[in-house]
Amino acid sequence: MRHNDMRARRHAAYWAFVVHRLSGLALAAFLPFHFWALGQAIHGEAALDGFLRFADRPLFHVAEGGLVVLLALHLTGGVRLLLIEFGPWSGLRKDLIAATLGAGVVAGLAFALALLG
Ligand code: HEM
Repeated sequence: MRHNDMRARRHAAYWAFVVHRLSGLALAAFLPFHFWALGQAIHGEAALDGFLRFADRPLFHVAEGGLVVLLALHLTGGVRLLLIEFGPWSGLRKDLIAATLGAGVVAGLAFALALLG
């Protein structure tokens, strides 16, 4: 029987893969709700305003911040993968993994700053 080699899981690229998959799935799960919320506009201004007022609470703002971070991580992680896949081979690019994490932190802090401003 074949066993997973746990050494691979200690590599930063494995965790970059986990973050990319989980963020991709979370973004895909969020999109139908997002379209539903925008679709409220079809029922008129009042319906959309009603939902926006309902969503104007801390729990939703924290979740929105999380989504912004997930999108930043998925976007920069995706660009890293495209560079690896289509560029000349130059390793698993831990520098790009670090840049991806940095972009996630920056996006989260910028979102928090915009909320406070
Ligand atoms: C913002 C720009 C985006 C970029 C640059 C991007 C890039 C990528 C790339 C390159 C992959 C393939 C990863 C691989 O080779 O294994 C991928 C996978 C994926 N993406 Fe995106 N993506 C973006 C936005 C999104 C959005 C908005 C969603 C959700 C609606 C999404 C959902 C997914 C999912 C579910 C996967 C499969 C993950 C896996 O199999 O591990 N992506 N993305």
